[in-house]
Amino acid sequence: MKTVVITGANTGIGLATATDFIKDGHHVIIACRNTEKAQHAKQQLESFGTGKVEIIQLDLNHLEQVNQAANQLIQKYKKIDVLINNAGMMTPELESTVDGYEKQFGVNYLGPFLWTMKLLPLIKNAEQGRVIHLASMMHLMGSIQPQHFKADQITKYNGVLSYANSKLANLLFSNILAQQLEGTNTTSNALHPGGVDSEIYRELPKYQYNLIKLFLISTSKPAALIKKIAFDPSWNKRNGDYVSLQTPAFRSRKAKDMQLAQQLYDQSIQLIQVYL
Ligand SMILES: NC(=O)c1ccc[n+]([C@@H]2O[C@H](COP(=O)([O-])OP(=O)(O)OC[C@H]3O[C@@H](n4cnc5c(N)ncnc54)[C@H](OP(=O)(O)O)[C@@H]3O)[C@@H](O)[C@H]2O)c1
Repeated sequence: MKTVVITGANTGIGLATATDFIKDGHHVIIACRNTEKAQHAKQQLESFGTGKVEIIQLDLNHLEQVNQAANQLIQKYKKIDVLINNAGMMTPELESTVDGYEKQFGVNYLGPFLWTMKLLPLIKNAEQGRVIHLASMMHLMGSIQPQHFKADQITKYNGVLSYANSKLANLLFSNILAQQLEGTNTTSNALHPGGVDSEIYRELPKYQYNLIKLFLISTSKPAALIKKIAFDPSWNKRNGDYVSLQTPAFRSRKAKDMQLAQQLYDQSIQLIQVYL
């Protein structure tokens, strides 16, 4: 039985992935912001298999809360086999996290960055530790704009580009982490899950959603890929990889830029330093 932590596992790709792990009898910690939704997911998951389900409250919108949630896990566990950074959101509106960051940057990237850095020692204690990042092909449109990390520094907002920027940041983080983990038993890999029929499109106008729905795949497809990355022996030595469902796994020039990855890492460490 392995210990797997999945963020945002109350719905969508996270819930489908948790379902697969529970069916296989693993210990799954679902890290969710809404405890009511998490309780509902727990009941559902427990009806599927023999695995053990645990809930931890995690709000990636608030760094202090991310820190507290990570500390709870650190106090309770010595090892985590797999961390799946799945939680994410899209918004067309300029919004701010509790700490003043542009919300998609904060929730999709900076919160998960802090969460991962705090939990890394536990993942390194596993025999074959795995960190899996839900990135997106949308990173192809993305760029890293430190001058726009804070919401109040933004004058002209484009929600789609901001989402793309956060997904590029996910990929760069996966790559630099993989470089740092080279020669250890822990790996860091990223994926584009395909266009997946989940709640992420909840903010889209209905006509747009009805149109794209025609091309969306079921959450079970990325869940199967994530399970493979987590446990299949063929992934034992794959580190710093990026795979994609539905589309070829093209990485943008920026996504391959290890200097950019290092710069973003250094900047991010500065932003979360107080919690390390
Ligand atoms: N669906 C796609 O087509 C697609 C394509 C490319 C990449 N992705 C990526 O795949 C991942 C999973 O997305 P999905 O499609 O399964 O979306 P989803 O159904 O909307 O699920 C997203 C999960 O993230 C959680 N979340 C949102 N804000 C949070 C916060 N502040 N703190 C903690 N958790 C938070 C949500 O919690 P609540 O239920 O409480 O809101 C939910 O559990 C995301 O990282 C997304 O960017 C998805």
